[in-house]
Amino acid sequence: YEESLILAIETSCDETSASVIRGGKHILSNIVSSQIDVHERFGGVVPEIASRKHVETITVIMEQAVRQSGHKLDELTAIAVTQGPGLVGALLVGIVAAKSLALALDIPLIGTHHIAGHIYANALVHELEYPCMALVVSGGHTELVLLESEGEFRIIGRTRDDAVGEAYDKVARALRLPYPGGPHIDRLAGEASEAIALPRAWLEADSYDFSFSGLKSAVLAVINQARMKGQELDEAALARGFQESVIDVLVTKALRSLKQYGTKQLLLCGGVAANRGLRATLDSRCKEEGIQLLIPPGSLCTDNAAMIGAAAYLKLTRGQFTELDMRADPGLSL
Ligand code: KG4
Ligand code: ZN
Repeated sequence: YEESLILAIETSCDETSASVIRGGKHILSNIVSSQIDVHERFGGVVPEIASRKHVETITVIMEQAVRQSGHKLDELTAIAVTQGPGLVGALLVGIVAAKSLALALDIPLIGTHHIAGHIYANALVHELEYPCMALVVSGGHTELVLLESEGEFRIIGRTRDDAVGEAYDKVARALRLPYPGGPHIDRLAGEASEAIALPRAWLEADSYDFSFSGLKSAVLAVINQARMKGQELDEAALARGFQESVIDVLVTKALRSLKQYGTKQLLLCGGVAANRGLRATLDSRCKEEGIQLLIPPGSLCTDNAAMIGAAAYLKLTRGQFTELDMRADPGLSL
């Protein structure tokens, strides 16, 4: 499979992306068209608009990805596409495109899990050693995933309410910062000279689950109180307090899970992996504990099709293909 060429497609949320991957490892192209500018004014992703935008751009992006790879359509080995989870209308666009192309070229279709993609983004740039642990932090997901061996995923913890990125975006919105708010909160937190103390949701002592809605409510309460009393709010100190609470819980639970399961590698993945505070804390804590921390470059942390190609490659080598009547599955389990 060293010379296999996978064309991967990702349309689960607000990025339209296509990528050609050779041998599961070499990124020949990875075109990402973001819709952020269209959704920004609504303060979040509008599903119906996302689907329509995907329809407009998908074939153009696929054409670019193939052209930039230096190969021709008839050289492709398989078509991979995100089957779920995600926005159903958005997923459907990528899926229809992928099915049509697989049919026309008479090559296999590989339905792929979006989170498997985020995790295997690491395999494009690092050597994974099993068992390893993945901390997936994005706008839609917060999960601790144990990989006992290649492609064997076991979710040992997940958020019970908001995803981390979602909490960042909601807090940013309350502070009237632009969407997506994560990077703005990150920057504000970095500028703060002090932090407003906020609660941490540890949940049950042995639980690896997360909860961020209580923290979000605590932040909103601080903001509302200041506004009601007409007091000036130290937004940077609030951002830092919020960020410290998030990082404390994420890092503590992740490191505890590595100990319990005897894993030596921690894979950080998803859009929130760009967070400077999280990276810095994980970096120093992992060094202390003798853990190898793997983080993909930023362009492979946010939604992109190369990561879907990397995850699909595992299925290709096992002959795990998908029938042409595959459905979009917004709640697909890993
Ligand atoms: O993985 P991603 O691109 O899309 C999803 O699959 O959700 O993640 C996007 C999320 C957004 O919520 C955004 O605010 C957050 O990642 N994000 C950040 C940072 N950069 C992006 N959150 C905190 N700090 C950052 N530096
Ligand atoms: Zn994602």
